Amino acid sequence: MAVSPLSKDEIKKMEYVCRLAARTLNYIGQYVKPGISTNELDKLVYDYTLTNNARPACLGYHGYPKTICTSVNAVVCHGVPDSTVLLDGDIINVDVTSEKDGFFGDCSATFFVGSVSEKARDLVEVALLARDKGIEVIAPGVTTGDIGFAIDKLVTRRGYSCVREIGGHGIGRKFHDEPFVPSFGKKGRGEKLVPWQCITVEPMVNEGVSTIQEIDIPNSSIKYYFTADGKLSAQFEHTVLVTDTGYEILTLD
Ligand code: MF3
Ligand code: CO
Ligand code: CO
Repeated sequence: MAVSPLSKDEIKKMEYVCRLAARTLNYIGQYVKPGISTNELDKLVYDYTLTNNARPACLGYHGYPKTICTSVNAVVCHGVPDSTVLLDGDIINVDVTSEKDGFFGDCSATFFVGSVSEKARDLVEVALLARDKGIEVIAPGVTTGDIGFAIDKLVTRRGYSCVREIGGHGIGRKFHDEPFVPSFGKKGRGEKLVPWQCITVEPMVNEGVSTIQEIDIPNSSIKYYFTADGKLSAQFEHTVLVTDTGYEILTLD
């Protein structure tokens, strides 16, 4: 599938909205503590986004009801904020997507709630390393399979598994665009990257089995997912620009 590269002006808009998404994620990270509810986190991000003259991209997206995704412990992704109160020892992925002037910035991080187990800390470290390993291989001519291969190799070596059904995506003029960016794969397979396209890299790393169960979100075609064995899952996400020589991470504060 041919992707049409972004113009200079469009890249400026991506840089702006991605920096805002990263700042928003940093901002909300300070509030992740035992005793706060995921609804409270959602409201803080909603207000912060509007204050910064942007739009929360998830809100209303295919009927999704909230501003952010809050995926706690065994929730793999798309956890919907509600009255759930965070407890000491939980891990939570907060996924923020902002839109400004028709362009999208998408990033997430997994945070510790209070003090967490050694196992959880190791899993979260691997999820972060896996994302960054996947990003490091990005350059023109590299394929989505190359990215997935690099991610899966690291994760498997550390004794964890990658979710296969869901992954990264093209992003820019649309929230979710071609290509699919898997967290597993074979070198040389998949779509070739071209300069001045943007993709996300967002591996979901499971403590146990890679298989997931999906749950409907009422009045939405978006589903949320949790691990089939009930063990932990962790994730980090960046939006990345493919340049003429390599890559630039856009969701940095
Ligand atoms: N931000 C998620 C991603 O990384 C997508 C969330 S879509 C929503 O692609 F509707 F669930 F918010
Ligand atoms: Co994404
Ligand atoms: Co996201």
